[in-house]
Amino acid sequence: SHTAARLSRSALLFLSRQEGLKDRATRLGPLRRLSRRFVAGESLEEAMDAVKALTARGLWASFDHLNEAVRDAAQTRDEVREYRRLLARIDQTGVKANVSLKLTQCGLLLDPALALENARTVVADARARDTFVRIDMEHGAVTQATLDIVRQLHTEHGERHVGAVLQSCLRRTETDARALCAERVRIRLCKGAYLEGPDIAFPDKKDVDASFVQCMKVLLDSGVYHGIATHDERMIDATLEHATRRQLPRDAFEFQMLYGIREDLQQRLSEQGHPVRIYVPYGPHWYPYLMRRMAERPANLAFVLRHLAR
Ligand code: FDA
Repeated sequence: SHTAARLSRSALLFLSRQEGLKDRATRLGPLRRLSRRFVAGESLEEAMDAVKALTARGLWASFDHLNEAVRDAAQTRDEVREYRRLLARIDQTGVKANVSLKLTQCGLLLDPALALENARTVVADARARDTFVRIDMEHGAVTQATLDIVRQLHTEHGERHVGAVLQSCLRRTETDARALCAERVRIRLCKGAYLEGPDIAFPDKKDVDASFVQCMKVLLDSGVYHGIATHDERMIDATLEHATRRQLPRDAFEFQMLYGIREDLQQRLSEQGHPVRIYVPYGPHWYPYLMRRMAERPANLAFVLRHLAR
């Protein structure tokens, strides 16, 4: 069943990259209905309602306007416009939220200079409104280019306005974590949601988990404010244990989880006094995001195939 789980994950992550299926999936009722569990809606106002409900429960948020692998320069400008609208709405409403942004949404696959320029516009706006932009991490082919751009923006705008994501599945991550901590770059640590080869990533889940714990310790010992992003209770327990051992105050770091996943755990940690931030994705381009969430649960493969095949 270990092999079956891995095959299922690969199959779903393969499907997540099939552009042709995207339009089809969007029209498909069952997948669209399923998307509502993980995606807060197609419009900014729907996402805003979801975040207000989280705020009422004591949870913080990070909005993400879903889009990735954008290959049209004009469309990347639309994404920047949407993020500026989003930042203005956060400012007006006073919800406890920042934003998460993907560089392939800003044109990284088209031209790294365009991605830098677009991301810089969003970060400068966030800084003017005293908030923060988390640059999401995507597949292994763009890790270095993504970190290069985050470093550039961090140099220009400082740790309070832009930060990185690292994935414990990658062999390079502990080294990256140590270097970024030394530079005082804020990090969101997650396991990694993309299909990667054994040359760059650990094929076995137990190694991904061990790497997560190892990197978590590097982060917590750094004195920089980081995010520990997981729903895995073993990872969370290890984090709490390490924080206790180091006598860290509760607000020395935050836990982060995804919208619609383990709401019981989100609430419990928050009630125990830990900052908990929920990643709230919205927008019409939800297909690849949904497929990555499906890939995290092997039992979902049959469901997805049945509906895509219709
Ligand atoms: P794991 O996959 O081991 O799951 C642990 C438990 O969590 C499961 O047993 C189940 O209970 C629950 N769970 C997890 N996924 C579920 C699902 N889809 N449906 C239902 N239950 C589920 N990745 C990336 O590559 N780049 C990024 O920028 C980000 N950003 C990001 C932000 C935040 C806030 C989070 C929480 C996660 C990410 N990720 C990400 C995704 C991350 O890499 C990873 O794929 C998922 O978080 C799932 O891994 P877990 O750590 O939850 O562990």
